[in-house]
Amino acid sequence: MEKGLFITFEGADGCGKTTQLNLLKEYLEQKGYEVVVTREPGGKGLGEKVREILLNYDGEVSDRCESFLFLADRAQNIDVIVNPAIEKGKIVLCDRHTDSSVAYQGYGRGLDIEQINKLNALATNNRKPDLTLVFDVDIETSMQRVGQEKDRMESAGKEFFNRVRNGYLEIAKQEPERIKVVDSTKSIDKVKIDVINIVEGLL
Ligand code: TYD
Repeated sequence: MEKGLFITFEGADGCGKTTQLNLLKEYLEQKGYEVVVTREPGGKGLGEKVREILLNYDGEVSDRCESFLFLADRAQNIDVIVNPAIEKGKIVLCDRHTDSSVAYQGYGRGLDIEQINKLNALATNNRKPDLTLVFDVDIETSMQRVGQEKDRMESAGKEFFNRVRNGYLEIAKQEPERIKVVDSTKSIDKVKIDVINIVEGLL
């Protein structure tokens, strides 16, 4: 591949996107593509340290501070992992990205969505995913999948997750070319086939 591909995986906690990311990685590697996996928050190095704060810090965190930490991590992920891999013609699979800020901090926490869009553009230097997969599942199922051991974000409650889920569906409507919604209540194998069918259209 001359120019790489940037595919992001999105959805509320417990939607099964990480499982599907790993299955797609395997599929693409078997077809001979070079694949780089990253995640937000996280990735590697400094990103993992920011992740640690975002998910485990148990003192007060303001909503705006939370937003900026996710954005700082995003800038690092784009500059250090995503862009260099795409320039080498690799396929980058990223577990969460800009749409998480819109869905969680915007629709979930109630921060201004237009402002988040501007900050996302700044954090990514205008790099946009070629494809975004939103894994959609009802809140009962996702909460069940998350289980009892919840991190700071997962402890936000059912109402919050309803807003996040509806936020994802809303942004998918606004950008139907880039964002594809996948019904993630189906079995892992069936969801995998849906994902492959979508991604094959890009290869
Ligand atoms: P993670 O363990 O990656 O969740 P999951 O396994 O469901 O992907 O934790 C990431 C958490 O951070 C998740 O609750 C979503 C949240 N998040 C935001 O609120 N905003 C963001 O911009 C990002 C990237 C993540």
